[in-house]
Amino acid sequence: MRLDIVSIFPEYFAPLDVSLIGKARERGTLDVRVHQLRDWAHDVHKTVDDTPYGGGPGMVMKPEVWGEAIDAVIAGGSPTTVTEGGPSTTVTGGGSPAAVAGGGLPRLIVPTPSGRPFTQELAQELADEPWLLFACGRYEGIDSRVMAEYGTRLRVDEISIGDYVLAGGEVATLVMVEAIGRLLPGVLGNAHSAVDDSFAPGAMRNLVEGPVFTKPPVWRGHEVPPVLLSGHHGKVARWRRDEALRRTVANRPELAAALDPETLDKHDRRLLEELSFRFQPEDMAN
Ligand SMILES: C[S@@+](CC[C@H](N)C(=O)[O-])C[C@H]1O[C@@H](n2cnc3c(N)ncnc32)[C@H](O)[C@@H]1O
Repeated sequence: MRLDIVSIFPEYFAPLDVSLIGKARERGTLDVRVHQLRDWAHDVHKTVDDTPYGGGPGMVMKPEVWGEAIDAVIAGGSPTTVTEGGPSTTVTGGGSPAAVAGGGLPRLIVPTPSGRPFTQELAQELADEPWLLFACGRYEGIDSRVMAEYGTRLRVDEISIGDYVLAGGEVATLVMVEAIGRLLPGVLGNAHSAVDDSFAPGAMRNLVEGPVFTKPPVWRGHEVPPVLLSGHHGKVARWRRDEALRRTVANRPELAAALDPETLDKHDRRLLEELSFRFQPEDMAN
């Protein structure tokens, strides 16, 4: 998968050199290219923002500079990237769109608190794309005409990572890249880890994962639940599901309410009753 990231702070992306994502890049599973937006600004101050039409506080990112940057990335690269060795490492022969598996054009991802929520399901959908281009906003965001312009040619997704406001799109992009990257084939050491994760499709849809334990069996007087030492796979699976249900009801009641009653067995229903959790009557009718 190829990922292009355009930002006025390329140095934010140094963490993409380490851990799972760093290894995926070394192996070539992920081709990450980080571009300095200011390289496409033409004035002496490398200006990327201006005052908002209609007045109000803050500044808005200019459409011209974003347009040139996105056009250049789509056309096959930029003069500077931080794929390796820190900001502004020059990369020669930066990939042409044809070099991307599947060819075509990137899907443009614009992080913004006003976007649709980033979920595990969306992470999986994006992990199936051959090429993503992240446009990291700052100030009050990017002039909306940029999204309108590219929306005629590319799939454009405005995405929020949560109901809070960050200073810029860089951290939101890091969050998305890590969530997407760990779903790529071969990135996780144990491919089954993602299957048991919170929110994973299948048995864990709309459930968060329960508590986890490792050795020793007793630590500072706290014992590991005996069922986990029993070696009985069926009982362990049941216990894990119970704990996932308990945590979901306690911490994420809105997710519990969205559980499909059809996917619940008798034991699940009894446990939910014990937890005083009630589906709305219309849910039970389905
Ligand atoms: C200060 S914010 C702009 C907030 C904007 N005035 C609003 O209220 O919607 C600057 C940039 O940070 C990023 N950002 C902030 N919060 C975010 C969130 N929850 N999810 C994704 N991106 C976010 C976006 O790139 C945004 O353009």
